[in-house]
Amino acid sequence: MTFENRDIISIRDLSKNEILHVLKTAKKIERKPNPNLLKGEVMASLFFEPSTRTRLSFESAMRRLGGEVIGFAEPGTTSLKKGETLWDTIKMAERYADVIVMRHPVEGAARLAAEAAGVPIINGGDGANQHPTQTLLDLYTIQKAKGKIERLKIGFLGDLKYGRTVHSLAIALSHFNTALYFISPEALKMPDSYLEELDSKGIQYYEETDLLKVSKKLDILYATRIQKERFPDPLEYKKYAGVYKLNRSILPHIKPSLKIMHPLPRVDEIHPELDDTKHALYFEQAGNGVPVRQALLSLVLGRVK
Ligand code: CP
Repeated sequence: MTFENRDIISIRDLSKNEILHVLKTAKKIERKPNPNLLKGEVMASLFFEPSTRTRLSFESAMRRLGGEVIGFAEPGTTSLKKGETLWDTIKMAERYADVIVMRHPVEGAARLAAEAAGVPIINGGDGANQHPTQTLLDLYTIQKAKGKIERLKIGFLGDLKYGRTVHSLAIALSHFNTALYFISPEALKMPDSYLEELDSKGIQYYEETDLLKVSKKLDILYATRIQKERFPDPLEYKKYAGVYKLNRSILPHIKPSLKIMHPLPRVDEIHPELDDTKHALYFEQAGNGVPVRQALLSLVLGRVK
């Protein structure tokens, strides 16, 4: 297994053993941080779409290991504004950095960037497609909270059509003998292509619109935001905004050990009154982005094996 110089575009690019290796590396780095591990390395952070957690945790990960960061979060301030293509932008960034982390609104943009670049590209989210590093930190969070990933019952709630974190995580969980519960309005259900992929692997999954019909079974409830920015018609978004709102009224309907996750940002899917309960795992989940991204950067830069 080698990670050096590899692109991380889709969670499908990683085998189960490789996923577990990233999680093990993250655990080691978190236990024993090395502030010089990435000294001399430069990461380009190219964000063509808004982000708080992915961008800041990648930048924090790099800096805490002694590396440097260049990049932008406002593409309107770059030469894209003058008509430069994504291809040419990447051809420049590869000359200025040793690794490129990129978020882009267009599905497949990260794959295109990987074709252009001679340095590793890490996909920080491409449209409604994939968000593989979020998946790795989600798995790390589940493993830390539950002591295992295997044989858990995991519910996904909300916008499963456009939610890229759900798409990536469902595919990753197919390695771990989990049962998946997809809870969404009919119009925002998990895309057929993902269900067909799960079918082909013999993965147990259930589709439901009413959370309360399955909530008592779940070990993890992974809530998501309705992805306003991906709806072609704003009126269509309005139909589904606020469709699932978790608050204290859910407590009698869940296991005492249930953990609630959310990739964040949340809008109104989880009321802050749940934040202090033993069920809330979402802020810890976001924090886990740092060791997991430290592990990934160290692996693709060949500083750890
Ligand atoms: N989870 C996540 O991708 O958050 P950001 O959009 O803030 O990066």
